[in-house]
Amino acid sequence: MSKKNKPWLIFLLTGIFPQNSEIPSEVKTMNISSHTKIIGLFGDPVIHSLSPAMHNAAFSYQKLPYTYIPFHVTPQNLPTAISAIRALNLTGVNITVPHKEKVIPHLNHLDESAVRCGAVNTILNVNNELIGHNTDGPGFIDSLNEVNLNPRGIKAIILGAGGSARAIAAQLAHENAAEIIILNRTLEKAQQISSLLPKVTVFSLQDDYKTAITGANLVINTLSVPFKKEGEWLVDLSSTTGALFYDLRYGNMPSDFLHYAKELNNPGLDGLSMLLHQGARAFTIFTNQKPALDIMRKALVINQPPI
Ligand code: ATR
Repeated sequence: MSKKNKPWLIFLLTGIFPQNSEIPSEVKTMNISSHTKIIGLFGDPVIHSLSPAMHNAAFSYQKLPYTYIPFHVTPQNLPTAISAIRALNLTGVNITVPHKEKVIPHLNHLDESAVRCGAVNTILNVNNELIGHNTDGPGFIDSLNEVNLNPRGIKAIILGAGGSARAIAAQLAHENAAEIIILNRTLEKAQQISSLLPKVTVFSLQDDYKTAITGANLVINTLSVPFKKEGEWLVDLSSTTGALFYDLRYGNMPSDFLHYAKELNNPGLDGLSMLLHQGARAFTIFTNQKPALDIMRKALVINQPPI
């Protein structure tokens, strides 16, 4: 028997279940439905990532039907997780450490940004074809532009030779930087990067690099350790007067490296800016829309951890 024949049932139901406009705020759910498009983040770990806060703030502000979810994916589970992008029809995912290189064999195509640095941080699912992009290098350049530093013709020093160093070196070479010098504890790792790129010279931290780095416009710190050890700066940068000291680390206090910039009277910039701009470019790849950059920036600043 239908409700039509039971007016008392309608009365009871409307009494028990509040109308939409009356739903009290404590039982309102997030606006997620089967139409919501899902963006993932695959990494190991992902617990401290600021990307969900940054992207979800912009999706919500711009009223876009997307949600951004971090997934803890171990190296062993990476192939299955990549298959799940197709199986669950995710719009795309961001890729973070330690998967940026290992993910490549699982993709259908690479955009030239990913080819350039041999790593992927953004995957777009186009009708089950997975396209790998890398927004780290272009995002880094956007952050330089924001402080009016044009990379063309500059002399840049990169401290470290991991994945971030490689992406930045490749992008700076692409942008026609005049000279790129990599300083790293393990010389062979720096040489691996210089063997792939033009205009790159390398030194180990034990070499005499002081004269070579004189006149630099930009010094980028990609090291994964604090810049001060037993009261000493890890690298002697005293011959880089006036260079912009760019630390890829971020946090709500200045890092050791930025303290060193201050000691030398050099300008400093932290890694929040690169995080923002690589995220903004990934947002556009996922949604085909320009992001509300100020909203993303606010979300990062509010959520950033102590350094
Ligand atoms: P990512 O890939 O995220 O850029 P990474 O691969 O962990 O980071 O690289 C970190 C960099 O910090 C490396 O260049 C590493 O030097 P090595 O190539 O010699 O390993 C550097 N690093 C790590 N610990 C260091 C330490 N105690 N002193 C000097 N450099 C160090």
